[in-house]
Amino acid sequence: MKQIRVAVIGAGPAGIYAADILTEQHDGASVDVFDRLPTPYGLVRYGVAPDHPRIKEIVKALHRVLDRDRIRFLGNVEYGVDLKLADLQAHYDAVIFSTGAMADRDLDIPGIDLPGSHGAADFVSWYAGHPDVPDSWPLEAREIAVIGAGNVALDVARMLAKPSDEQLGTEIADNVHRGLALNQATDIHIFARRGPAQIKFTPMELRELSHSPEVDVVVHPEGFEIDEASQHAISSNKGTRLMVDTLLKHLEAEPTGAARRIHIHLCQAPVAVLGNGQVQGLRTEKTALQGDGTVRGTGEYVDTPVQAVYRAVGYRSSQLVDLPFDHTAGVVPHDAGRVLDLDGEAMPSTYVTGWVKRGPVGLIGHTKSDAAETVASLLADLDLDLDQAPGTEPADPDRILIHLAERGVEVTTWEGWGRLDAHEVALGTAAGRQRIKVVPREEMLRISRG
Ligand SMILES: Cc1cc2nc3c(=O)[nH]c(=O)nc-3n(C[C@H](O)[C@H](O)[C@H](O)COP(=O)(O)OP(=O)(O)OC[C@H]3O[C@@H](n4cnc5c(N)ncnc54)[C@H](O)[C@@H]3O)c2cc1C
Ligand SMILES: NC(=O)c1ccc[n+]([C@@H]2O[C@H](COP(=O)([O-])OP(=O)(O)OC[C@H]3O[C@@H](n4cnc5c(N)ncnc54)[C@H](OP(=O)(O)O)[C@@H]3O)[C@@H](O)[C@H]2O)c1
Repeated sequence: MKQIRVAVIGAGPAGIYAADILTEQHDGASVDVFDRLPTPYGLVRYGVAPDHPRIKEIVKALHRVLDRDRIRFLGNVEYGVDLKLADLQAHYDAVIFSTGAMADRDLDIPGIDLPGSHGAADFVSWYAGHPDVPDSWPLEAREIAVIGAGNVALDVARMLAKPSDEQLGTEIADNVHRGLALNQATDIHIFARRGPAQIKFTPMELRELSHSPEVDVVVHPEGFEIDEASQHAISSNKGTRLMVDTLLKHLEAEPTGAARRIHIHLCQAPVAVLGNGQVQGLRTEKTALQGDGTVRGTGEYVDTPVQAVYRAVGYRSSQLVDLPFDHTAGVVPHDAGRVLDLDGEAMPSTYVTGWVKRGPVGLIGHTKSDAAETVASLLADLDLDLDQAPGTEPADPDRILIHLAERGVEVTTWEGWGRLDAHEVALGTAAGRQRIKVVPREEMLRISRG
């Protein structure tokens, strides 16, 4: 069996599944999984909401993969800064990029840059304790608009509405708990630009919105439009039916008088963030369904007074050094995972998987099928290459470590992450919590060092 060495850039679920499938399918494969963070798991650690411990259980399976003999985790190594494509080509037989997405998509409306207008991804990074975002977050606003009707909008609205003490049992960092305790929000308004059958929430996440006794969910009747196409979607798709049913229940329910409310407004598209030097409102245009799931503006506007706006209109991947990038789709162009250069030709031994391949939609489980496709391409190409260049020796695995050390890069190893992981769990146990995340990068590195 030919020995091959593969680099995976990005230790989120997509990269870990790629390493998993590759080592399962090729007994001679060894994989180095790099991440710019000192920690593995990508958005499972820094995206999935802290009050979703059941989903975070997926970490156990991802841990088992990274724990394998033929897989190494090398954290705190940033592709494009600490390593370039040429370095990877010199040390590995193939490279798989799985760098995901971390930034907010732009929303080009007047006032979007006003103080008090935030990207959901930035807020998520803050409450998830990401080391590269500021330690504190402004939470003085009483009324808040959340633009977008996907699951990230739900996460953001729930995190803004739930009393901070309901988060205490989770893994949140201390600075996050302190910040949330000062939260003044009473009314969070989610604005969906389409109707109840077109929103992108998933049923379980929507149902969960009402789990806090301290929060009322209010669905507003204006814009609760169900046309023929919506009716068809409801009868043909169980998820849509469950969601519309849940929305209807909220629409018909009497508010309990809870101190905080999450409002859901349908068929209202954002037009402008209002304010003079600070967010003071959101202007939306009422929309009407056009019979095919899309909407048109009606020319009727609504101004909602709010002191903060969060846009949750999707994530965005970043361009990677030395790789082509499709700026419109926000992905690395590829054919079944093979990165395509500007002429549409496959770049040798260079692959992509996960959100940076497919775009920032889909659940953790979907990254497994992404990885399966990419690994199949890689292994198929390798067979070809083998015919052309039999007998090539794999690179010495220590060489890349020497290369990084010579550049002054402090690599977090799997054992190092184990130390940080155990430290966070111990902090949590002492305080009767699941875990307390360590946030400053320097502190993470110090603890990992042992
Ligand atoms: C807020 C939020 C909540 C979510 N909640 C859920 C949920 O509850 N359930 C669910 O199933 N799905 C959820 N998802 C979706 C899920 O997180 C994604 O499907 C999945 O994480 C995508 O995996 P990925 O590996 O492609 O990207 P990521 O998880 O983003 O991983 C990419 C990794 O690459 C690293 N990286 C980036 N650039 C570089 C570089 N230059 N050099 C080295 N490393 C780099 C990053 O640090 C990161 O660790 C959520 C998504 C978001 C945004
Ligand atoms: N708990 C979970 O399972 C969980 C949690 C978080 C995220 N996720 C997953 O992660 C992925 C990303 O989630 P996401 O919420 O970022 O993206 P998403 O599901 O694509 O939702 C984006 C929302 O933004 C709206 N939008 C986009 N552009 C807009 C504009 N210009 N004006 C107004 N609204 C606009 C979209 O409306 P249109 O539909 O009209 O375009 C949609 O409602 C999804 O697959 C999601 O399911 C899962």
